[in-house]
Amino acid sequence: MSFFICPKCKEQLNKNENALVCKNGHSFDLARQGYVNLLMPNKRHSLSPGDSHEMVMSRRRFLESGKYEIFSDKLNEIVSALSVDSQKTTIVDCGCGEGYYDGRLCEYLDKLKINYKLCGFDISKKAVRAAAGKYKQISFAVASTFDIPVKEKSADIAIAVFSPMVEKEFYRVLKPNGYLIYAVPGVRHLMGLKETVYDEPYENTEKDTEYKGFDFVNRHSVNGKITVSGEEAVDLFKMTPYYYKTELSAIDKIRLKGEIETEIQFDFLVYKKEEMKNSEDF
Ligand SMILES: C[S@@+](CC[C@H](N)C(=O)[O-])C[C@H]1O[C@@H](n2cnc3c(N)ncnc32)[C@H](O)[C@@H]1O
Ligand SMILES: [Zn+2]
Repeated sequence: MSFFICPKCKEQLNKNENALVCKNGHSFDLARQGYVNLLMPNKRHSLSPGDSHEMVMSRRRFLESGKYEIFSDKLNEIVSALSVDSQKTTIVDCGCGEGYYDGRLCEYLDKLKINYKLCGFDISKKAVRAAAGKYKQISFAVASTFDIPVKEKSADIAIAVFSPMVEKEFYRVLKPNGYLIYAVPGVRHLMGLKETVYDEPYENTEKDTEYKGFDFVNRHSVNGKITVSGEEAVDLFKMTPYYYKTELSAIDKIRLKGEIETEIQFDFLVYKKEEMKNSEDF
C-alpha cells in the first residue's frame, strides 16, 4: 500500500508495477527517481508552480554546507520526542523542498530505532525530483498543501518548514492528538544578508501562534550566526522569498560585499490537534 491517496477520488493508491493505482482505475506513473505526480491542474497555480530548478539547486548546495544543521537537529529532536512509543509514527512533510530535513530526520530516527513512516510532498516538481533522486528510502509526491495527498486522520505528525500553513488540511490529515510542527523565520533571521541588499531592512514580524483547530503547545527558538560570501551567499539569497521581489542588482551587491555575517533564527511552533465536533467548524 502506498502512503498516498488518489487526487481524483481520494481512494488509497497501491503500487502496480511502475504506477500507483486506485481501485477506481486512476493511475499515476512513478517517475524514474521513484516519485509520483499527484498535482491536479488548478486555476490557483501556474503550470510549473513552486520553487524553480535554480532555486532548488541553490537550496541543496546551501543546505549541504551544513550551515542550517542546527535547525535540522532541532527538528529531529522535536519529532523524536513526539514519536509514539510502541506504535509506528506516521510523519508527513508538507512543502518538503529538496528533502534535506527528511533525509537527516530518517538517519536520526533510524539511529534511535524509532518505528516510523515518512513521506514528503512539494508543489515544485523540480524539488521533488531532487528529493526522490537522493533520498531513496522516503516516499515523495508532487502535490499541494491545499490538497494534501494523504487520508484523513492518518498522520501522527505533520511538518511544514517555511512552507504554507493550511490549517484545515493539517487538521484533516492528522490523527486525534496528532501534532503539527510549523517552522517560521525568527524576528532577526538573515538580518545581515538583508542589510547587504536593502537600505532599511525590516525585522520579520513574530508569527501569530493561534490557528483554528489547534492548541499551541510550545515554541522552540533556534539562533545562530553564520558567515557566507560569494556564490554561497547568493545561494542563500535565492532560497528566500526576497529573491522573487528584489531586482537582480541585489545579487551583485551580495557578490561584491565579500564576507557577510548574518544572524539565523528559526522558530519551531508546535501544535496539538484540538478536539472539534466536526471539520465543518472551519
Ligand atoms: C522556502 S521553501 C522550503 C522547503 C523545505 N521545507 C526546506 O526548508 O528546505 C518553500 C517550499 O514550499 C513549496 N511550496 C510552495 N507552495 C506550496 C504548496 N501550496 N504546497 C506544497 N508546497 C508548496 C515550494 O515549492 C518550496 O519548495
Ligand atoms: Zn481514483
